[in-house]
Amino acid sequence: MMAANDIHALEAVFVPGADNHRAFRNALGSFTTGVTVVTAMTSDGPIGMTVNSFASVSLDPPLVLWSPAKSSSRYGAFTGARHFAIHVLGADQDHLSAAFTRGGNGFDGIEVRFNDEGVPVLPGTLARFECAEQAQHDAGDHTIIIGKVLRVAHRQGEPLCFSGGRFGRFAV
Ligand SMILES: Cc1cc2nc3c(=O)[nH]c(=O)nc-3n(C[C@H](O)[C@H](O)[C@H](O)COP(=O)(O)O)c2cc1C
Repeated sequence: MMAANDIHALEAVFVPGADNHRAFRNALGSFTTGVTVVTAMTSDGPIGMTVNSFASVSLDPPLVLWSPAKSSSRYGAFTGARHFAIHVLGADQDHLSAAFTRGGNGFDGIEVRFNDEGVPVLPGTLARFECAEQAQHDAGDHTIIIGKVLRVAHRQGEPLCFSGGRFGRFAV
């Protein structure tokens, strides 16, 4: 059996800073998440972004959060949106993830509907949280956006997962 000390010997311990960005990102990437696409309407039409910073916050009132990077070309559009929708992707929906990350084709060839607030929504994802912006908090090179959930869509299915920079499936 491995002693606790042996496990510690395998750890790299560091203070996150300019010279170890990659190591910090790698450590953060060990936290396995689902994958979402956040959508909103702008004066130039619908926008979407692949996002794994989504988190549930509060049941009553129903609140969720996600964080756009200030460096994203879509940052201003999302922080300016009063309403948005967060779509949790199923295991077979990696094409949606690819469409809404850097270099993706966006809404080309993807079925879109519009909800009562005029937000573009993608039917058929595992879950969808249709939100009104409740608050924004400045957070370093990101902004935390908190949404009040106005409407939920949900179906059964396997989730798309993201861990260590790779997409995969959940296995029990
Ligand atoms: C799995 C995954 C999760 C991501 N999560 C976020 C996120 O939470 N926030 C964010 O700003 N960008 C996130 N991105 C990056 C964005 O999808 C997008 O590529 C980035 O904002 C660059 O956008 P731009 O081409 O508009 O500058 C994620 C990308 C992937 C593939």
